[in-house]
Amino acid sequence: MAVRILIAALLILFVSFAYAFDPDPLQDFCVAVKDDEAKVFVNGKICKDPNMVSADDFFFPGLNMPGNTSNPLGSKVTPVNVNQLPGLNTLGISLVRIDYAPYGLNPPHTHPRGTEVIVVVEGTLYVGFVTSNPADPNMKNKLFTKTLYPGDVFVFPEGLIHFQFNVGKTNAIVFAGLSSQNPGVITIANAVFGSDPPINLDVLTKAFQVDANVIKYLQGQFCRHFSFSTYQKLFSSTSLQIKLNTSLRNMHLSSLMARQVNIYASDPSPLQDFCVAVNDSNAAVFVNGKICKDPKMVTADDFYFSGFNKPGNTSNSVGSRVTQVTVNQLAGLNTLGTSLVRIDYAPQGLNPPHTHPRATEVLVVVEGTLYVGFVTSNPAHPNMKNKLFTKILHPGDVFVFPKGLIHFQFNVGKKKAVAFAGLSSQNPGVITIANAVFGSDPPISRDVLTMAFQVDKNVIKYLQSQF
Ligand SMILES: *[C@@H]1O[C@H](CO)[C@@H](O)[C@H](O)[C@H]1NC(C)=O
Ligand SMILES: *[C@@H]1O[C@H](CO)[C@@H](O)[C@H](O)[C@H]1NC(C)=O
Ligand SMILES: *[C@@H]1O[C@H](CO)[C@@H](O)[C@H](O)[C@H]1NC(C)=O
Ligand SMILES: *[C@@H]1O[C@H](CO)[C@@H](O)[C@H](O)[C@H]1NC(C)=O
Repeated sequence: MAVRILIAALLILFVSFAYAFDPDPLQDFCVAVKDDEAKVFVNGKICKDPNMVSADDFFFPGLNMPGNTSNPLGSKVTPVNVNQLPGLNTLGISLVRIDYAPYGLNPPHTHPRGTEVIVVVEGTLYVGFVTSNPADPNMKNKLFTKTLYPGDVFVFPEGLIHFQFNVGKTNAIVFAGLSSQNPGVITIANAVFGSDPPINLDVLTKAFQVDANVIKYLQGQFCRHFSFSTYQKLFSSTSLQIKLNTSLRNMHLSSLMARQVNIYASDPSPLQDFCVAVNDSNAAVFVNGKICKDPKMVTADDFYFSGFNKPGNTSNSVGSRVTQVTVNQLAGLNTLGTSLVRIDYAPQGLNPPHTHPRATEVLVVVEGTLYVGFVTSNPAHPNMKNKLFTKILHPGDVFVFPKGLIHFQFNVGKKKAVAFAGLSSQNPGVITIANAVFGSDPPISRDVLTMAFQVDKNVIKYLQSQF
C-alpha cells in the first residue's frame, strides 16, 4: 500500500512536469514594440531594444478608475494585456478590472488562450462556467455556479464558457488574472449571431434546432449593437512610440521570429519515449492527463486503434457524427499532444458551431463538399465585429481551425461527406455552443441568457426547450 502511494506521488510529479505549460522566456524580458505599422507579423510581439527599456514599459496606471457601465449589459471590462502593457510580452499573464452596475452582466464568453482567476473586491456576483461536452452522450454539459462576496476567489478553466452576474443592489468590482499575455475573448452571442459576415442561416437553424425566424431575430439583435461587447477597448496612450528604422528591422526580423516561435511553442515536451495511459476509470487519484503504464508491460496494441474505415451513424438531428481517437480510446497518445477524429456528414449534415478548449484542428476532406468556417475572437476596436472566415472544401482540401475559436462544417453537397482531422491535444475537449449555453445541467439562469442575447425571456425558454 505504502509503495503504491509513493508510486502514485512520483507519477503525479512526473505527469505534471510533462504537462507544464508556463511560458519559457529566453531572457529577463522582451518588452513589446508597438506594431501598428508592422509589415511582418510574428507570434506575440517583437522585442524592443533592451537598452531602450525603462520602468514605464512595465507600468500601467489608472486601474483604480471605475469602468463606464452605461451600456446594454451594465458591465465594463478594462484589460491590461500586452496591448496596454508592453512589458507583458512573452510572460504569459495579464490582468483585467471588471465593473458591474446593479444587475450588470459579463455575458457568456470564452478565453481561447487563458485560464482566469478572479477576486471580488466589492459587491455580490453570481458566477458560473460550463464544462465541455461529456463523454457520455446522455449526459449534459455541467454548469458550476457560485455566489461570490468580497474577498472570494473563483477560477474559470482555460477555454470554457463562463459569465459573472451582479445580483446585488450595489455596484460590483472584480480583478482577474489571466494566464496569457493576450488571452482573447469570444462573446458567444456576438460571435455566433453577430459575426461579419453572418454565419449561414441554415447552419444556425440546424445548430440551435429552431425556426429560421428565431435565428433571424437573434441575428437582428447583434446587427444593431455594435459596441455591445464589454471586452473591447482600444488602447491609445502608449508612453513610448517606437519608430523603428525599417532597414534595421528587416535585418533583425528573421532572428527575432525564430526566438518568438520558440517562446510560444506549445507542443508538449515528453520526458520519455512514451507514457501509455493506464485505464483509470476506477482511479482514486486524479492527475493532469493520465498515469503511465509500466513501460515493461507496454505492447504495440497500446498504440493501435482500428475501425476508422467505418462510417459513423449520422441518423441524428444534425446529420453528422464525430468518431474520436483521443487518449480515451488510444492510451498510447498520453503526453504526446495529439489526437484524431473522423467526421461523417449526411447530405445537409452539420457539425454545429463548437470550440476545442485545448486544441487547434487541421481537417482534410476525403469525400464530398463542405462549407466550413471559423469566427475570430472579439476585435480590439468596438466598431468592428467578430470576423467570419469561410471556405468551400472539396476532396483533398485542407483547412485549419485555430485553437479555441468557434467553428463548424456543413455538407452542402447532395451526397455524404467524410473528413479526417488532427487535433493538437491528446484530449482536446469539445464545447458545442448551443448545447453548452442552452442545455447545461443545471440550466444557466434565464436572466443571464436574456441579457446576454438581448432577447425576450420567451425566446430563451424556447431555445432551452430544444436541448
Ligand atoms: C458613459 O458612457 C455613456 C454611453 O456611452 C456616455 O453617455 C457617458 O457620458 C459616459 N460616462 C462617463 C462618466 O464617461
Ligand atoms: C536606417 O538605417 C540605415 C543604416 O543605419 C541608414 O542608412 C538609413 O538612412 C536609415 N533610414 C532612416 C529612414 O532613418
Ligand atoms: C443509427 O442510429 C439510429 C438512431 O439512433 C438507429 O435507429 C439506427 O439503427 C442506427 N443505424 C445503424 C446502422 O447502426
Ligand atoms: C477502461 O475500463 C473500463 C471499465 O473497466 C472499460 O469500460 C473501458 O472500456 C476501458 N477503456 C479502455 C480505453 O480500455
